[in-house]
Amino acid sequence: MSSIKKVVVAGGGVLGSQIAFQAAYCGFDVTIWLRSEGSIGRTQPKLDKLKDTYLDAIEAMKTVESPVDPKWCRGIAEFGAFDAEACRAKAETAYSGLKLELDLAKAVSDADLVIESMAEVAAEKMAFFTRLAPLLPEKTLLVTNSSSLLPSSFTKATGRPGKYLALHFANSIWKQNIAEVMSQAETAPASFDAVMDFAQEIRMIPLPVNKEKAGYLLNSLLIPFLLSGLDLVANGVSDPESVDKAWKLGTGAPRGPFEIFDVVGLTTAFNIVEKYQKVPGIIDPLLKKMMLPYNFKAQKALLKKYIDAGKMGRASGEGFYKY
Ligand SMILES: NC(=O)c1ccc[n+]([C@@H]2O[C@H](COP(=O)([O-])OP(=O)(O)OC[C@H]3O[C@@H](n4cnc5c(N)ncnc54)[C@H](O)[C@@H]3O)[C@@H](O)[C@H]2O)c1
Repeated sequence: MSSIKKVVVAGGGVLGSQIAFQAAYCGFDVTIWLRSEGSIGRTQPKLDKLKDTYLDAIEAMKTVESPVDPKWCRGIAEFGAFDAEACRAKAETAYSGLKLELDLAKAVSDADLVIESMAEVAAEKMAFFTRLAPLLPEKTLLVTNSSSLLPSSFTKATGRPGKYLALHFANSIWKQNIAEVMSQAETAPASFDAVMDFAQEIRMIPLPVNKEKAGYLLNSLLIPFLLSGLDLVANGVSDPESVDKAWKLGTGAPRGPFEIFDVVGLTTAFNIVEKYQKVPGIIDPLLKKMMLPYNFKAQKALLKKYIDAGKMGRASGEGFYKY
C-alpha cells in the first residue's frame, strides 16, 4: 500500500478532471490546481458532467451479467462485489469533496503526490515544473501524464529526480482503467513502487514501463498498427473491410484498425496522421523513437531462447504464456 493520502492534480482539462474525480472516488483527498478563474469556469462543468457519467454508469452496471460487457466499468467496481448504493455514495462524496485551488503554493503545501496533467506543450510544462520545484515538500512524489513528451525532458526542472516519473492514463479512466507507470533514468525504485501501488488504489490496472519508451506500451503497439492499416488502403493495396478481416480472422482480435479508427473518431485519426506527416523531411521524434530502429537481433535472440527451451507457443503448451 502506498502512503499517499493527499493528491494534487495540476490541470483540470479532459484527463485532469477524470484523474481527480477517480482519485476522489477512491477516497483520496484531492485538489485540482488551476491557473486562473477562467480555468475554474471550464473545469467545474467537466466535474459536474463526470458526476452524472459515474451515476449513469453505476445505474447501467446493475443489469450487467458479465465483466466483459462494455457497460461494465472496471474503474468503478469489482465485478462480483458491486454495491450500487455504495458506489453512488462514493461518487457523491467525490464530487462534493473535490477542491479547486488557484494558489499553487497553497495547493501543494502538504501534497503526497502531484499529478501534472496540463496541455501537451513542452515549454508550459517546463515552466510549471520549474515554478513547482521550490514549493514542494521533501516527501512529495511528482508524476506527469504526458502522452508524447518523455519524462526525462523535465527531470532537471523538477529538482527531485528520484521522486519523479510518468503515470499515464487512458481517456475515460472509469472504464479504460489502465495506468502506465514509467520510470526515467533517475527515478528511485521506491517511488516507482509507490506510484504502482497508488494506481491500483485508484482502481487502475498498473502496467510497469521500466525504462523510458515514447508511446509507453499501448501507443507503441497501437500507433504503428493503425498507421500500417491505413497505409495499406491509402496505397490501394486493399480495402478497409478486408484489412479488418485479415487482422481479426488472422489473430482473433475483436477489432481491426478501421473499426478502431471509427471508435477513435476520424478527426482524431486525421490529427494523428497529420502530426506524423506535418514537416516534410523531419521525422517526428515520437515516431522516430517508436519505430526506428527495430532491434531485430535482440528479437531473434529472445525467440530463439524460447524455441530452444521447447516453448513453441500455444500448440506446445507453452510460449510466452502457459496453456
Ligand atoms: N486526452 C487524452 O485522451 C489524454 C490521454 C492520456 C494522457 N493525456 C495527457 O494529459 C495531459 C492533458 O491532456 P488533456 O487532454 O486533459 O488536455 P486539455 O486541453 O483538456 O486540458 C489541459 C489543461 O491544462 C491547463 N493548462 C494549459 N496550460 C497551462 C499552464 N501553462 N498552466 C496551468 N494550466 C495549464 C488547461 O487550462 C486545461 O485545464 C497532456 O499531457 C496529454 O498528453 C491526454
